[in-house]
Amino acid sequence: MSTTGGSPIESFPDAKGEVRFGAQKDSLWYKDAVIYQLHVRSFYDSNADGIGDFAGLTQKLDYLQELGITAIWLLPFYPSPLRDDGYDVTDYTSVQASYGSLEDFKSFLKAAHERGIRIIIEMVINHTSDQHPWFQEARSSRDNPKRDWYVWSETDIRYQGARIIFLDTELSNWAWDPISKSYYWHRFFSHQPDLNFDNPAVLEAMWEVMTFWLHLGVDGFRLDAVPYLVEREGTSCENLPETHAIIRVLRKRLDLAYPDRMLLAEANQLPADVCPYFGNGDEFHAAFHFPLMPRMFIAVKQEDRKPIIEILEHTPAIPDSCQWCIFLRSHDELTLEMVTDIEREFMYGEYAIDKTMRINLGIRRRLAPMMDNDRRRIELLNGLLMSMPGTPIVYYGDEIGMGDNIYLRDRDSVRTPMQWNGGTNAGFSSADPERLYSSPISNSVYGYQAVNVESQRKFDHSLFSWMKSLIRARNSVRVFSRGSIEFLYPSNPRVLAYVRQLDEEKVLVVNMSPSLPSRSHRHLFSPECIRILRNTPANTSYFRLQNKIPDLHHRLLAHFHLRRAYLAKEHIPEAIAEYLRQSPCT
Ligand code: NOJ
Repeated sequence: MSTTGGSPIESFPDAKGEVRFGAQKDSLWYKDAVIYQLHVRSFYDSNADGIGDFAGLTQKLDYLQELGITAIWLLPFYPSPLRDDGYDVTDYTSVQASYGSLEDFKSFLKAAHERGIRIIIEMVINHTSDQHPWFQEARSSRDNPKRDWYVWSETDIRYQGARIIFLDTELSNWAWDPISKSYYWHRFFSHQPDLNFDNPAVLEAMWEVMTFWLHLGVDGFRLDAVPYLVEREGTSCENLPETHAIIRVLRKRLDLAYPDRMLLAEANQLPADVCPYFGNGDEFHAAFHFPLMPRMFIAVKQEDRKPIIEILEHTPAIPDSCQWCIFLRSHDELTLEMVTDIEREFMYGEYAIDKTMRINLGIRRRLAPMMDNDRRRIELLNGLLMSMPGTPIVYYGDEIGMGDNIYLRDRDSVRTPMQWNGGTNAGFSSADPERLYSSPISNSVYGYQAVNVESQRKFDHSLFSWMKSLIRARNSVRVFSRGSIEFLYPSNPRVLAYVRQLDEEKVLVVNMSPSLPSRSHRHLFSPECIRILRNTPANTSYFRLQNKIPDLHHRLLAHFHLRRAYLAKEHIPEAIAEYLRQSPCT
């Protein structure tokens, strides 16, 4: 077991003394992880100042361990004016004072490692805050040695091929600096000048920052805004070969000095453009699968498996050591950059009819309200998340079905305090309510009095308990994290069925539209099918799941079909798969 925050994790028994896959010393640990994404500010306030902090987060690690997640991805916690919630960094090697101290971070890291939970932090390498001392120096005079750390121009007409990402706030990727009387380049907010990666000193500075955190013991980095590191005239200034070269340098250094740590790419691109970020296994270990995410929402709404199958079939194979990271919601808007215009209109029409719910090219809502709080659909989507190829990421609060506040600015709509109980401030903080960084959700449907951890922990049938068993099911076998996928095509397109396979182990997953008439379910689980299942020499995991749901055979909803993930020997899923291939399921 790891003894200090600085030691990489070796192997950790879970609460029951069993060694969990995700916690074993294994350089491919990110493949088996279940990642929980959270913001320190939003999780738990230990010192009653209205803002979450590392000491508070440390106190809540037992909760996360109980949920079964094996890694935490922290949003930026560096000193920052917080004009982009921390993605505008002013100091890369310390902690925003309101979140605690570096010592608090180290204690948190140690406590997480002791529980077998790995920590992935943000590395915002594309840009800094305009308040960062580097930029302050760079703008102070044209002769300053830091001048060339950023991208300057006499005009604002260079790089016209680059799109504007923050369409709702920015008119140009150039901003005028009145101090040095020239323009500087920024792909995001104008207060976030892009660093100049053509200057080797910038890469050295970033590597130095990374080694600082690696030395403390962090397990991985999410590299923010990767496609935009380098600019070239006549291009879109995205995914350039020079950008890949920079990543290869970082990866090489990482492999040499810290071989079990991981790099996760935030590259919101089509699969064909993301795949090069895996290189030949010599760039990123993992990357978000952005295009899959909206297609899961489309599929659920259209009650049609096609959008999901299509995008996965168009996803090129990736090197063995690499992994997709899949997610439903995050701290950002549900991005619709990587869908067609028709798909985007569909998503807006179905999930964001009120324009207040939209931002840039996306939807700033949480999962539960997007599903109209329909438990069957929430579970269906989470079932997909946990059973499709890739490492799943759960956004904090979605495990209890938290709502959003679309009347807050920007993406703050989905960043409200974690709802721990039905008491003051949702149990998030004991500060005066006026002092909180944001009010907790308090409406009658999603408010903390109705939706909170304490009450959901008490009931076996709560969403939290359901998520716990789902995550346990996922963690109990490696086939979900490392196995292949074969789609089956039952005649009814409302059934999405696939076999995941790893060596001898096969799991059949059947997802069904919640509105399928029960006769379809009867068909799928007809006496013949049930007979095959009954004869299944199921393994322990299968029985454990089954026992949890006494009325398993009578529940006709999609999510329970995931619970029927038939963890059995080779021939059994084959029999079911064959049945499904021929099956009517209409
Ligand atoms: C990507 C982050 O996810 C987002 O929250 C941020 O606003 C942009 N990068 C710019 O830093």
